[in-house]
Amino acid sequence: MTLILGIESSCDETAAAVVDRGRVIWSNVIATQHELHERYRGVVPELASRAHVEKIEAVIAKALEDAEIGYDDLSAIAVGNRPGLIGSLMVGVSAAKAIAWAIGKPLIGVDHVRSHLYAGALTDGKIPLSAVEAEEPITYPGIGLVVSGGHTSVYDMSSATVATLIGRTIDDAIGEAYDKAAVILGLPYPGGPNLDKLAKTGDPSRFKLPQSMLGKESLDFSYSGLKTALLYKVRGFPKGRGAAAVYERSIEDLEASEIADLAASFQDAATGVVIKKLKRVYKHMKNNGRKPKTLVVGGGVSANSLLRTRLVEFGHNMDVEVFIPSMNVCLDNAAMIAGLGYRYYLDRRFDDLSLPAVATTKI
Ligand code: KG4
Ligand code: ZN
Repeated sequence: MTLILGIESSCDETAAAVVDRGRVIWSNVIATQHELHERYRGVVPELASRAHVEKIEAVIAKALEDAEIGYDDLSAIAVGNRPGLIGSLMVGVSAAKAIAWAIGKPLIGVDHVRSHLYAGALTDGKIPLSAVEAEEPITYPGIGLVVSGGHTSVYDMSSATVATLIGRTIDDAIGEAYDKAAVILGLPYPGGPNLDKLAKTGDPSRFKLPQSMLGKESLDFSYSGLKTALLYKVRGFPKGRGAAAVYERSIEDLEASEIADLAASFQDAATGVVIKKLKRVYKHMKNNGRKPKTLVVGGGVSANSLLRTRLVEFGHNMDVEVFIPSMNVCLDNAAMIAGLGYRYYLDRRFDDLSLPAVATTKI
């Protein structure tokens, strides 16, 4: 048994979790701030950091209580220290430092985006692990795919801790496109899950929306064209530009069935392009002598129903083992931080109390 406490506060969830040997979730507490930001239709950084301060102690206490352990049972404290909203990150990092210092256990800083790629390795429940089960289940080389509100990135992965970024979005992230598309379609916050739900009731073939593939060999993504195409389908072409633009119609002029069909068409295009890009990534890695054995997926959009189905199909077609996180660890959580933190713990890659919170990273 090696228990790591994970702490996550990079955006609008205050989270803490206890994970055994990087695999078994003993507790996974997530306090979401959705209600706080709902009326602004997006996260307000100052409100987010203040809410983290208010909640973090109780969230950590609950994670220990749910796991039925005390601070002395922990082997290390892992914290998501990058990237994210700086004020929010600082709350989690400060809490983690205080605990690590007070109990004299190692502190481990973890990259939030990379940790999303570890969520598929986690299992639920307090079950005893055999030595074999305690091994990481993912084999490499693998394709890493992060689809979240801030990132759409693909990695060539050599291990849980060694990954090279080989493609990323050049404009909007897929989750951001979902959230903006939901606003265009008049759906409530949080946009992504609501659009997903509505899309299931619509006909994806009614409207044709573009799937941007960029250059012939490009492994990068672009979602701004899809978002604009949806806007024009809903409101017609604008006269004038920017804030002064006047559109032919508004969302209220559309029938409910039309809105559902537009949601389905958007969902089809947004997820379809991911699969097409993954085929390119597979070919790219194979040509470099690194034929992928696995596809590891993470980030909030990995909760998307159509994307999950299509990723499984991709795995069957390409003979690649697919790791998609279970629903409780798709969105931001601290179990993924504790899980990846354990892999660093094995490498004895520890940080000291000068560990910074870092808003942006290139990886
Ligand atoms: O990973 P995450 O919790 O936060 C970031 O690190 O960005 O991802 C949040 C994103 C949001 O854009 C949200 O709308 C999207 O994930 N999302 C979804 C679904 N559930 C969450 N997008 C599409 N379909 C879903 N079911
Ligand atoms: Zn995230």
